[in-house]
Amino acid sequence: MTGVSNMTDRNLALELVRVTEAAGLAAARWIGRGDKIAADGAAVEAMRIAFDSVAIDGTVVIGEGEMDEAPMLFIGEKVGMGGPAMDIAVDPLEGTSIAAKGAPNAIAVLALAEHGKFLHAPDIYMDKIAVGPGLPDHLVSLDASVGENLRNLARAKKCDISDLMVCTLERERHAEMIAKCREAGARIMLIGDGDVSGLIAVSQPETGVDIYIGSGGAPEGVLSAAALRCIGGQMQGRLLFEDDGQIERARGMGITDPNRIYSLIEMAGGDVMFAATGVTDGPMLRGVRRTQLGATTHSIVMRSKSGTVRTIEAQHNFSIKPVARG
Ligand code: FBP
Repeated sequence: MTGVSNMTDRNLALELVRVTEAAGLAAARWIGRGDKIAADGAAVEAMRIAFDSVAIDGTVVIGEGEMDEAPMLFIGEKVGMGGPAMDIAVDPLEGTSIAAKGAPNAIAVLALAEHGKFLHAPDIYMDKIAVGPGLPDHLVSLDASVGENLRNLARAKKCDISDLMVCTLERERHAEMIAKCREAGARIMLIGDGDVSGLIAVSQPETGVDIYIGSGGAPEGVLSAAALRCIGGQMQGRLLFEDDGQIERARGMGITDPNRIYSLIEMAGGDVMFAATGVTDGPMLRGVRRTQLGATTHSIVMRSKSGTVRTIEAQHNFSIKPVARG
C-alpha cells in the first residue's frame, strides 16, 4: 500500500482480525435472541472501540449509514490511532437476521484499501455476478443472459451445465433468474441471507459453488469485491436505482453513470486487505464458541498484495483483563 512498509502492512492485516473478532464476540452474545438491532448495535460498538488501537488514519467509506443516521462507523467517520491514510469498508454484523435467528452464515467483516480505491456505494441494491479464479477473463457478464453465462462457464470448466452450482439469495425478485437457471439445467444453492459469504464461496472449491448471481446490498458488493481481489475470482456489479432521488444522492458520492457495470478492480482497487470473523457457523468460518474461560473465534484475513489467505483460530480468556496500551 502507498506509504506503508511491507512489515507495517503485514502487521496491520493481523490487527484487523482483532477488530472483526471484537465485533464477532459482541454479536455472538445476541445469537438467536430475536433482536437483530441489538445484535448489530453490539457488533458496531465493539468494532468502533477496537479500531482505536489500529495504527491507521482511517476513513469509513462503506459503513453504517450517513452521519445523521448512524451514531458510529458512519460514512466519513475517522477511525484508528493515526498512521497511513486508508479507506475502510465495514459491516460489523453481515447477516443481522441470521444472527437474531441463530441461523448459519453471520460474519463480522471489514476491508481496507488505499485512499480513493473503494467504490463509494450507496446503500441500495446491486446486481452481482461472480465466478472463481483460474477462468478466462470476462467469462461471465451482467449483460449476458443467464443461459449464456452458464454455457460459457460450463465450457470453461469442461463440464455440463448440470454440474454447475449457482448460489443466490432466496428472494422473490430472483424467481425469474432461478427459473432460468433450472431451465438451463443448473443446480441452485439458495441462501437466506449473507451474500458476502455467498459471493466469496465461488472462490472456495470446498463450498461447491461455481457461480453467484443475484442482487443484494451494494455495500456488501464492495466488501465481496475486496475479498475476491485477495482470494482470486471475477465479479461484476451494477447499482440498481429505484428512483431519481437515489440517482441524485449517488451523484453526490461521485457516481455519474447510473447504468455502469463495475469490474472487481473498480469496486476495490489498489492493495486491499480483508478480514472476517464467524459469528454463526458457515461454509467459510465457524461461529463463536463459548468455552469455560471465554470463547473461541474463527477468522480469515487476506491481502491482495501477497495473495495470502490466513485462517486464525483464537481463544479469548475473559478472566484476563487486557493491559492498557501506551
Ligand atoms: P443485513 O446484515 O443488513 O441484515 O444484510 C443481510 C443481507 O442478506 C446481505 O447479505 C444482502 O446483501 C442483503 O441483506 C440483501 O437484502 P434483502 O434482504 O433486502 O434482500
